[in-house]
Amino acid sequence: MNDSSASIGVFDSGMGGLTVLRALQRSMPHESFIYLGDTARLPYGSKSPGTVQRYALQAARILVERDIRALVVACNTASAFALDALRKRYPELPIFGVVEPGAAAAANSLPGSVLVLATESTVAGGVYQRAILRKRPDLTVHGRPCPLLVALAEEGEHEGAFCESVLRHYLHGHVNAGSISRPSAIVLGCTHFPVFRPALERIAGADTEIVDSAETTARVVADELRSKQDGSTEGQPAVRLLATDGVDRFRRVGGYFLGNSIDEVELVDL
Ligand code: DGL
Repeated sequence: MNDSSASIGVFDSGMGGLTVLRALQRSMPHESFIYLGDTARLPYGSKSPGTVQRYALQAARILVERDIRALVVACNTASAFALDALRKRYPELPIFGVVEPGAAAAANSLPGSVLVLATESTVAGGVYQRAILRKRPDLTVHGRPCPLLVALAEEGEHEGAFCESVLRHYLHGHVNAGSISRPSAIVLGCTHFPVFRPALERIAGADTEIVDSAETTARVVADELRSKQDGSTEGQPAVRLLATDGVDRFRRVGGYFLGNSIDEVELVDL
């Protein structure tokens, strides 16, 4: 399982986690990866913690069966509710979530307030809010569920008037002129949200830092695996993509999240 020639497993509820895979590939260009998008059961973000935990354990099993040396839970909702259960099931496997690295990056922000954009369940569970406040009790942290953004991103929509009005709707009361809670940082607490970064930067303005948990997670994984001296994969790095439904759509739309065109996606059943 911890053979250094094995791939790093990555999973998400859908294609959004490809933004994390992209960041991981940038941080560890010699590694091979195997990615699973549980597209048949997306969204996780409106499901109960128990269901998310069950789905996450099933997704992890598929990857572990394919021989991985580490697991990255790219889904914020699954990171919020399933990390402990996954670590209990696979005590030998290094398992990384995206919430702690995202919260650590947000904790570096200027004094003031932090706005976490995430799914309904992630915001309701309060994990980001607690993780940021543990590191920076002086900050005020607000959570804003943005479920429509997941659907838009999965449709391949990330710019234009419609997206902009949805973003403005979610940011209303936070970044409009004269808002008392104008955030010093906005955390992209959902795998699908990095595709909206340019639009968000425009709307939020230069004084608000955008924190992307994909990038910070990739740095943590790269540091940790290097510090364990796991080494990197010999030969050409490979990327294998699996999905539980809609492989044609995955091929068509996924390239935008990944930043590369996608040739092959394998259909798997959990
Ligand atoms: N991948 C999920 C997350 O990062 C968003 C999509 C969903 O609701 O499943 O929280």
